[in-house]
Amino acid sequence: MTGDTEEKSEERNTAGRLALEVMHEIRNPLEALGHLTYLTLEEAHDPDKVIQYMKMAEEQMATLNQIVSHTLGCARSTSDPTASDLSSLAESALRIHHKRISEKNIHLVKDFPEGLTARIHMGEILQVVSNLIVNALDAMQSNGTLSVRLRRRHDNFYIVVADNGQGIRPEHAEHIFEPFFTTKEENGTGLGLSLSKDIVDRHGGRIGVRSSVRPGKTGTMFRVSLPA
Ligand SMILES: Nc1ncnc2c1ncn2[C@@H]1O[C@H](COP(=O)(O)OP(=O)(O)O)[C@@H](O)[C@H]1O
Ligand SMILES: [Mg+2]
Repeated sequence: MTGDTEEKSEERNTAGRLALEVMHEIRNPLEALGHLTYLTLEEAHDPDKVIQYMKMAEEQMATLNQIVSHTLGCARSTSDPTASDLSSLAESALRIHHKRISEKNIHLVKDFPEGLTARIHMGEILQVVSNLIVNALDAMQSNGTLSVRLRRRHDNFYIVVADNGQGIRPEHAEHIFEPFFTTKEENGTGLGLSLSKDIVDRHGGRIGVRSSVRPGKTGTMFRVSLPA
């Protein structure tokens, strides 16, 4: 193989990865926009509902925009971080997945104290929480329990997403934040956590995980901390 061909195939690989990454990332916001359009048409007679859904649609568009700029190599969306209410962010993330949550008959535990306002890139953190929820839903059988908790302690906000799914095997745990690491074969891209970690890092925060595969006590807890 000549150097030239190698370079070409390397280029194709990179393009393929990028396409995969973009497809994975736009799936959630596109699905959410689909649901929001449906809900708006259903509730078209209620102006308050329409406004509420359109505001949520706006957030999703911001996310799509952010993905595009990210893909084009701009490290971050052009806007500055804005003061965002974490409980409405968490509600939006859950709403995106409400269909799967109810289909799987998932028991939802929400602990959202009032008045937690963080200066963040809302669309980006929404993407992170959404990714954590997708993973939790993937890991659980029907009738599992999904908990989402928000906290403020000292100089940090905490967003915790926990499930009682299958857990992460110890030999996998050290790889889960690596791009393209997946245990879901063709159903996974292995990009959700690596992109989430990028986003949290850029916010000056941290993302940590605890998981158990002990029979009868399996489950996983992700904790995102963001500087207050
Ligand atoms: N809540 C969870 N429970 C069990 N395993 C998880 C959980 N979240 C992440 N993982 C593991 O981390 C891997 C990487 O996750 P992610 O980067 O989102 O990629 P993907 O979901 O496409 O596989 C998953 O394939 C899975 O093995
Ligand atoms: Mg994932």
